[in-house]
This record gives sequence, C-alpha cells and structure tokens, in this order.
Amino acid sequence: MTATSPAPAAVADAVASLRVTGKQLQADGVLTLELASPSGDRLRDWTPGSHIDLILPNGLTRQYSLCGDRWDAGSYRVGVLLEPESRGGSAYVHDQLRVGDLVGVGGPRNNFPLVPSEEYLFVAGGIGITPILPMVHQAELLGAGWRLLYGGRHRSSMAFLDELAPYGDKVLVRPQDEYGLLDLPGFLDEPRAGVRIYSCGPAPLLAAMERTCAYWPPHSLRVERFVADDAGAPARVAPFEVELARTGTTVTVTPDVTVLEALGRVGVEVLSSCRRGVCGTCEVTVLAGRPDHRDALLDDDERAADDCMYVCVSRSRDDRLVLDL
Ligand code: FES
Repeated sequence: MTATSPAPAAVADAVASLRVTGKQLQADGVLTLELASPSGDRLRDWTPGSHIDLILPNGLTRQYSLCGDRWDAGSYRVGVLLEPESRGGSAYVHDQLRVGDLVGVGGPRNNFPLVPSEEYLFVAGGIGITPILPMVHQAELLGAGWRLLYGGRHRSSMAFLDELAPYGDKVLVRPQDEYGLLDLPGFLDEPRAGVRIYSCGPAPLLAAMERTCAYWPPHSLRVERFVADDAGAPARVAPFEVELARTGTTVTVTPDVTVLEALGRVGVEVLSSCRRGVCGTCEVTVLAGRPDHRDALLDDDERAADDCMYVCVSRSRDDRLVLDL
C-alpha cells in the first residue's frame, strides 16, 4: 500500500477505568459482572441493545451487551457466558477476574436499538437474552404490547429466569431438553404490519428467524449476532485504492490486509475493537465507490445504500473507495 499525502490524526475514544464491584453466577456457565467508577462518578448513559467493550487486564478486548438497569447511572451489568472454545476472554472473566479489579470499558455503543413500536416480539437464545432483557423492561415501562420467547439448552443454563418471572405468561421459557427446538412460526403467528421483532442468539436461531420472517413487512426483524456469518470470498482479489477525502491521501489496499490495517500502516488510526465486523466501532462513512460489505451489522437495505462500511472486515467492489476520513 502507498500513502500519497499526509494522514489525518487518529480517531480517539475515551476508555473508562471501572472497578468490578460484583461477580455473580446467574446460571450454569453464565455470570454477571457489575462495574462502577472507582470515584463514584456517573457512568455514560445507554439504551437497550447497547454493548460495551471490556478491556481485560490480560490485554484482551471483548464486547458484552449491557443487561442491567439503564436508569442506574452508577453501575453497568454485563452477562458473560463461559465459551467452551474461549480464546481467553470469557475464561479469564470466569476464572481470574476478581471483585475489586480494574477493567477498561469502551462505549457504550448501540447497534441494536429498540425503535418505537406499539408491539414487540422478542426471541432470545441462550446468552442472547442479555440485550433482550433491557428491551423487555423498556417495552413494559412504555406500555407497549410485547411477548418473549426464550430458549436454551437446559433450564439451569438459562440466565435471568428469576427477573423474567414477574412478567408471567408474556414470557415463554422453552428449554430445548424439555420442549425441543423453538416453535418460531407458532410464536410469531401470521405476518402483520406494526410489529417489531428483535432476536439475539446463536447463528442457527438467527438463520431460522430470517427464514420465518421472510414474508413479514420489510424491517420487521432486527437481529444481533455474536459472530459474523462467513461472508464468502471477497468480491475482488485485485488491490483497490482508498482515498481519504479530508486530506486527499490515497492508500492502496492489497488482498493480504484489511482496510483498517492498510490505514493503520500509513498512520491513520480508525478506532476498532472486535475486528470481526460485529461491534460497529470501526464504522466509516463512504462518500463514493461500492464497498464489499462483510460485516454482521448492516441489513440488506443498509448494505445497498453503500454509505458506510466497517473497515475491519469490509473491502471494495470498485477500484476506488472514497472515505470520510
Ligand atoms: S472493529 Fe468491530 S466492527 Fe470493526
């Protein structure tokens, strides 16, 4: 890659240092962490669907949905599932992180916002309940109609059942070993306008949701993924150029690097976190050219608009992209 003019300054984002004030087992393999400012400062506001970056003392950064009380300005709560294939994030949280430790916290950011509606249907699988839980509380607070279908492998592995119990039959708890696979068509019923459907959980559940909602009005369904789908082969294998509109810098992106890496090599630091196309941190506005979208965040219409991209994973379909950097 080459840089043909000076690069703009790095994008900066504040990372707060918060103290772990609580660590509690919620279900088999699931614990919650409570985080607060060591000085008692008010934390940044957030809305249902938001996540934070947790920057662990071992240097790893992971994203976790906020699942506490959004009106409590003094603490955040996140739920953490012990991943069998943990690469050191969830295992560290479960086994080594202690009450009293300090962690870095970036965000909150919200890629999964709850839009106004008079009726909601929520479908959660496993740890996917974490972003849904504050949505349920919010929908109840606003007096909207809502129901939740909540699945998991076993009842003992499903977190927050005690917090959902007061909602009675608005919540269908369906452990797989008792009920089998979730009955999505039965829960969603006939496609109809004016209903917002939110779902978070493992990839097979989200794929089933997309199939089941295929005949619902556009934008009825919104999902949040933990991992990006396999985006397949890039749209092009030839290098492409990225022009940075604010300075006129041109960077060549070769097939072996991401746009984020290519920018970083010429001193243009775009804030990033997951680097897997799932957290939304590295979003950049596209002024010209067609990105090859490879993230797990944009829906079909947003992709077609070609006005933003996530530079940690997305590439280009054209010879040249112009970015608002
Ligand atoms: S860094 Fe998370 S989407 Fe790019």
